[in-house]
Amino acid sequence: MKVLAINGSHRKGSTLELLKITLGEIDSSIEKEIISLSDFEIGYCKLCGACKKNGGTCVLKDGFQEIAAKMTEADVIVVGSPVYFGSITGKLKSLFDRSRALRVSWSLKNKFCGALAVGATIHGGQEHTIQAIHGWALIHGMLVFGDTSPTAHFGCAAVVSQKDGKFEFNKGGIETAKSLGRHVNEIAGMLK
Ligand SMILES: Cc1cc2nc3c(=O)[nH]c(=O)nc-3n(C[C@H](O)[C@H](O)[C@H](O)COP(=O)(O)O)c2cc1C
Repeated sequence: MKVLAINGSHRKGSTLELLKITLGEIDSSIEKEIISLSDFEIGYCKLCGACKKNGGTCVLKDGFQEIAAKMTEADVIVVGSPVYFGSITGKLKSLFDRSRALRVSWSLKNKFCGALAVGATIHGGQEHTIQAIHGWALIHGMLVFGDTSPTAHFGCAAVVSQKDGKFEFNKGGIETAKSLGRHVNEIAGMLK
């Protein structure tokens, strides 16, 4: 089993830290990788239609191909995003739009998808951000999971502040980040 975590932030900041907490809960026997979109160029899908005609290969040449290969290889994809105006970042949306090519071949179908969102404000749009990620996953035919018991809601929803250059997360944010990771262990157990 392979888990891919995607940091949808434009930088390596609080979202990456939380994703590391989530992956830290996942059993060491499970293969895990985190990628940050800040390391990749991702252009916009312009609806050229090539992927529809060629069976699912995006013809734009940038960082998307590498990410697409990683997503295709993974069994579980955990997508994290900072809340930007109540939703996901523009770069993550670009990745989602480009992934239309993968939907032509249904390459992500029946993979598991969990979501993580972090914002600077309580009720700042974390759940809406998570639902944007879930919407993408559902449209690919993926199986969406949230954080497991005892928290068991939509995934990791965190509030962050910064003190002395360090990120500080609310208690619920840390708990749901961990719980999301534990849910991956439960899925792995079910699949055995
Ligand atoms: C353009 C922009 C819009 C933002 N909008 C929101 C928002 O709607 N709600 C919120 O709680 N935080 C908002 N924030 C704060 C970020 O979500 C927060 O700082 C987050 O921790 C950044 O994640 P990162 O450290 O991984 O980059 C916004 C930040 C930026 C730059």
